Amino acid sequence: MVVSLRDTDWDGVRLHVVTGKGGTGKTTVAAALALALASHGKPVLLMEVEDRQGIAQLFDVPPLPYEERRVAVAPASNGHPGGDLFALAVDTESALIEYLEMFYNLRQAGRALTRLGVFDFATTIAPGLGDVLLTGKAAEAVRRKSGGSPVYGAVVLDAPPTGRIGRFLNVSSEVSGLAKVGPIRNHADTVQRVFRSPQTVVHFVTLLEEMPVQETLDGIADLKEVGQGGIQPGAIIVNMVRKCLDLSAKDPVTHPRELEKLMAGLKAAGLAEDGELAADLAAELADEARTQRTQAGQRRLLDAAGQPCYELPLVTEGIDLAALYRLAESLREQGAA
Ligand SMILES: Nc1ncnc2c1ncn2[C@@H]1O[C@H](COP(=O)(O)OP(=O)(O)OP(=O)(O)O)[C@@H](O)[C@H]1O
Ligand SMILES: [Mg+2]
Repeated sequence: MVVSLRDTDWDGVRLHVVTGKGGTGKTTVAAALALALASHGKPVLLMEVEDRQGIAQLFDVPPLPYEERRVAVAPASNGHPGGDLFALAVDTESALIEYLEMFYNLRQAGRALTRLGVFDFATTIAPGLGDVLLTGKAAEAVRRKSGGSPVYGAVVLDAPPTGRIGRFLNVSSEVSGLAKVGPIRNHADTVQRVFRSPQTVVHFVTLLEEMPVQETLDGIADLKEVGQGGIQPGAIIVNMVRKCLDLSAKDPVTHPRELEKLMAGLKAAGLAEDGELAADLAAELADEARTQRTQAGQRRLLDAAGQPCYELPLVTEGIDLAALYRLAESLREQGAA
């Protein structure tokens, strides 16, 4: 048996839902987090639900079928080997067929129904149905056991963006148009029990910019508003953090005397004859100072939300597998896994 020797911020959590504004790095961060979690030695499942094959692209493997596939192995840590990272791309239609088979032994009928377009019809009259099937798959993976112990140490769900997450997770528990009784109802209730247990948290990926920060704060507030018995907010993960110039020692070169000094320095170094370069540099520095002030303000807002906060650097050369492992390591060092 693998025994973890470290405390993390999310001990006891087995379902990590990752959301955030579009394009902030949800898929990348979900993958890095999944790798970090797998480094404890147990297998971890990384799931995506948006028909985008983002995971396959990230791990440079062929498009994922509706079947759990091993895409990577986590690095060894604490003297034990890393666990396997499995990935799954869930789509509502396959999830429905699987559901029908599980509950009614109706795989063939399920296929026929989807061919006839019954599925589209069903999701039109019951808009929550598709989401229940997707979140249901995540809940099933969390609960799945083999020989009495859980198959996965953790499940990481690359979820829809903040704008759609409330509805997707059914935060306010109004199952609009969904059956009020019967197996779908029971299924929806089981899913909600998993999502509303201390085993589940929702992490928010953001950049240090106004819009994604606002969406993060709103998202956390929405979860907290539902309160007891609701879905727990998790960490704030600030992604693509740029290395910044250390401007703390002095004010940027906006003062004429500072500008003169800069000009003289550039001249002495043989880098410029006229003042143009110095003026350009001064403008850049002033710009940098402004950006840093804005980012500091956004950071303060995020800190005030009271959730654990992690930072991941901007990887200027692009995200490849090696970069993903480095991001995973960074998340571990910060206590995320
Ligand atoms: N820390 C980082 N450093 C550099 N590039 C990054 C970083 N994180 C993500 N990216 C890049 O930013 C782009 C968007 O990332 P990603 O696809 O993970 O975002 P997303 O939130 O899942 O987007 P979508 O909303 O479209 O699903 C990708 O090209 C990815 O490689
Ligand atoms: Mg994505």
